[in-house]
Formats: sequence, structure tokens, C-alpha cells
Amino acid sequence: MKKIVIIDGGPRRNMNTAQMLQKFAEGVKTANEGNEVKTYRLYDLDYKGCMSCMACKVKGKASNICKFKDPLTPILEEIAQADGLVLGSPIYFGDVTGQMRTFLERLCFPWLSYNDYSLTAPKRMPVVLIETMNGLPERNNDNGYGSMEHCLTVALGAPERIIAYNTCQVKSYDRFELASFSEPAKQQWRDIHWEADLQKAFDAGRRMAGY
Ligand SMILES: Cc1cc2nc3c(=O)[nH]c(=O)nc-3n(C[C@H](O)[C@H](O)[C@H](O)COP(=O)(O)O)c2cc1C
Repeated sequence: MKKIVIIDGGPRRNMNTAQMLQKFAEGVKTANEGNEVKTYRLYDLDYKGCMSCMACKVKGKASNICKFKDPLTPILEEIAQADGLVLGSPIYFGDVTGQMRTFLERLCFPWLSYNDYSLTAPKRMPVVLIETMNGLPERNNDNGYGSMEHCLTVALGAPERIIAYNTCQVKSYDRFELASFSEPAKQQWRDIHWEADLQKAFDAGRRMAGY
């Protein structure tokens, strides 16, 4: 039995990012009903980014799990013992959401040693990074997980990256000032790509579960 932690860094419960993460979870469960998948929605939690309290670097008491106590604490402790980690975020202004970024500060800063600049997590594990965005593969401003991807790679292992491009941002384009998008073009892209994007997330879930 494997324990997989999914972190949803998007604000919308049932839209693109949440659906990709849901499919990933289904993939893990399909591989083995006994697998445990926990999904945490960052927008439901009251937490802050790294407080620079340096508690994780106190001599003799250094910790590679954040010591600052708030609703993120049990989740960071759970990740430390998980068998796999999945991070999902819409792309906002070329990056992951602010909530995902602040979460990553709390996850990764305790891994970093200021003695030798090594990065050590409590446990190495497979990582999948999921992004959804308006951009096209050939025309996007996506910096994704940015510098945090390096920390994740060194401390946990090289992540698999799954990107859903050109997502439908709203259900009806008529209702909003979105003239630079063509609804038929969006819909056409969706008809061709969306099921395949969901399938990629599902398959990655099965792979992480070791199917
Ligand atoms: C504040 C904001 C900023 C955005 N910035 C970008 C961007 O820089 N590049 C991009 O391709 N899409 C951008 N988008 C579009 C979203 O990334 C895209 O619609 C995404 O699939 C939404 O995910 P969701 O449906 O899970 O909320 C932005 C959307 C919002 C609300």
C-alpha cells in the first residue's frame, strides 16, 4: 500500500487543475484500492510562507520539517513520510499561484543547509508537477514551479511535469470580457486535448502507484 499526498494550489474546486488532480487520484486508486490518496486544498488553509524564524536551523535542533506551527504543520509532517507527492497549480502571471509558492517555501527551506548548501528532504519520493494554463505549447509565458523545481529535484528526485495548455478559463465566454479568446477555438482545442490531458494525469497516478 502506498500513501500519496496531492497538493491543490488552485482556488477553484471543480475546474481544470482540480479535475487533473482528481484524475491523478483515480489513477492511484485504480492501481490498488488499498492505496491512500490525500488531497489538500491550499486555499482552504490558513497559513503563511516561510516566517524566517530560523527554528529549523538552530544548532543541535536542526530539522528538515518546518517548525512553525499552523494548519500546514500536519500536512508537511505527512509529506515527510509519504510515498509520492503531487503538486498542482494554475499558472498565474507566468508562475504557480501565490499559495503554491508560499507552501513551497515552507516545504523546501528546512531542506536547505546553510552549512554546505545541500538540500535534504526527510525522504526521497517520486514527484509529479501538474500545471494548467491559457498558453499554447509554442506560445506561453510559463515559468512553472521556477526555482522551487530545482529544490524538489535535488531533495526528492526529478519530477514528472504534466501541462494542460489552452484550458477553458470559463464555462461560457459570452458572459465575460474575454475578446482576445475565441470560444469556438478554445472548444475545438478542448475537444482534441482535454481528455488526453486527463488521461496523462490518470496514467501518471497509476505509474506513481507502481502499477
Ligand atoms: C490571476 C490569473 C493569472 C493568469 N495568468 C496566466 C498566465 O500568466 N499564463 C497563462 O497561460 N494563463 C494564465 N491564467 C489562466 C489560468 O492559468 C488558466 O485558466 C488555468 O487553467 C486556470 O486553472 P483552474 O481552471 O484550475 O482555475 C491566469 C488566470 C488568472 C485568474
